[in-house]
Amino acid sequence: MADLHDQRILILDFGGQTTQLIARRVRECGVYCEIHPWDISDEVVREFNARGIILSGGPESVIAEGAPRIPQAALELGVPLLGICYGMQAMVHQLGGDVRAQASHSEFGYASVQLVSTADLFAGLSDRVENEQNLLDVWMSHGDRVEALPEGFELVGTSANAPMAIMADEQKRRYGIQFHPEVTHTLQGATLLKRFVRDICACDGLWTPGNIIDDAVARITEQVGDEEVLLGLSGGVDSSVVAALLHKAIGKQLTCVFVDNGLLRLNEGDQVMQTFADNMGVRVIRVNAEDRFLGALKGVSDPEKKRKVIGNLFVEVFEEEAAKLANATWLAQGTIYPDVIESAASTSGSAHLIKSHHNVGGLPADMRLKLLEPLRELFKDEVRAIGVDLGLPAPMVQRHPFPGPGLGVRILGEVTKEFADILREADAVFIDALYAHDLYDKVSQAFTVFLPVKSVGVTGDGRRYDYVVALRAVETVDFMTARAARLPWDMLDEVSRNICNSIPRISRVSYDISSKPPATIEWE
Ligand code: XMP
Repeated sequence: MADLHDQRILILDFGGQTTQLIARRVRECGVYCEIHPWDISDEVVREFNARGIILSGGPESVIAEGAPRIPQAALELGVPLLGICYGMQAMVHQLGGDVRAQASHSEFGYASVQLVSTADLFAGLSDRVENEQNLLDVWMSHGDRVEALPEGFELVGTSANAPMAIMADEQKRRYGIQFHPEVTHTLQGATLLKRFVRDICACDGLWTPGNIIDDAVARITEQVGDEEVLLGLSGGVDSSVVAALLHKAIGKQLTCVFVDNGLLRLNEGDQVMQTFADNMGVRVIRVNAEDRFLGALKGVSDPEKKRKVIGNLFVEVFEEEAAKLANATWLAQGTIYPDVIESAASTSGSAHLIKSHHNVGGLPADMRLKLLEPLRELFKDEVRAIGVDLGLPAPMVQRHPFPGPGLGVRILGEVTKEFADILREADAVFIDALYAHDLYDKVSQAFTVFLPVKSVGVTGDGRRYDYVVALRAVETVDFMTARAARLPWDMLDEVSRNICNSIPRISRVSYDISSKPPATIEWE
């Protein structure tokens, strides 16, 4: 089989909010791509050997001093280019056109672009026709605007606030669009990106779940040889898919360690064992470490300290189990592509630490095991797709993300077994209701938070003075920003009554309506 990565697209990131979305859309077209920062060297650009390059949007102004620039090699390689928003403006600026600051004509959100010519990339695209002109509904976000196109480019589309909204140099296969094709508000965006990568860049669409699995299995088999691999199985989507993938590749050479730390969701431990050990024949060692974790968390109420205690203890328990296995030389992890991109951003200093997510870092520096990360190139949707192909139950693969420290960061302040038990019950009521109302898959993440404060309630003739829980459900694309889901009142009302009626220690239920920012998704 040809190398799945041979036909590849390079995405140069200028700091846009939606750069990861561009990459996901390209992958959805069946084409492999990688995101790299705009300031990589010319040599790296050449060595990448892209069939085409996409220049992302970004927050800056191309005419500002020291503004990010397109690497010269990207302009000289002769491969097709697609500039999006900032990317288009940078092309104009560096290829001899004119970009002007237009504070009073900034354009954010919906816009209508009129097609005035039929360059290949845009031929026949249309959301509406008015006065015999094809119109595209698009999503714009820009301050500056293009005033003059560089030599060789023709004007293809125009909007009220961006008279030069689309440009094309058909001969050199260079295109610029002022709007964002990667967001769903741009109705023809997916078609446009597909045409660019499949037709203009001539990529074949080899990046499919079946091929990804075959490629990963071949690589794992070669890498691991006859050695043994250890995997920390959490029950979350990523580590579950790693387990299924490794099982397919190396069968009995895989041993999973599942640590029940007492901070899991209701019946989670049993479900994980059932799926993997009983149904799939994966070797799983279950370590019941609830007492050990809760003991270590006694008296600890600071969120970051809790994360450290949980993270360190997890590694400790895990290493103890690893030491019992004579031949394990590899440690497998469920690191996925957004983790790779975000850790790169944080080591380059371009992102602030808000919370330390322990499954990204946190491994001991003197680790004797070699690291195996078979999902490093994949986005979450791709991980889910190959999970289903590998035979994992759909509800497991479609589960919302669950943080490494588990309920440890959903019980505010000090964690106790009593609080964890109450929270597990309440959370199960909420999640079951989301499934019953067919809403689970419509929100990105939903869970319950335990608030260790007491509130007065009344049931029958009696007064209650008990704990409070908060329900949280968010809609998000990348978990970097999010808004509270507009869940139906009737459904929330039902959940609230069921929780208060069935769990005696809870007297009040609230619904968290904060967005991220300024709040975060988890409460700690
Ligand atoms: P925040 O709360 O930072 O969460 O808005 C963003 C996403 O990350 C998850 N999260 C974590 N995942 N370890 C993890 O593995 C952690 O310590 C952690 N903290 C937050 C959170 O559930 C959400 O999906």
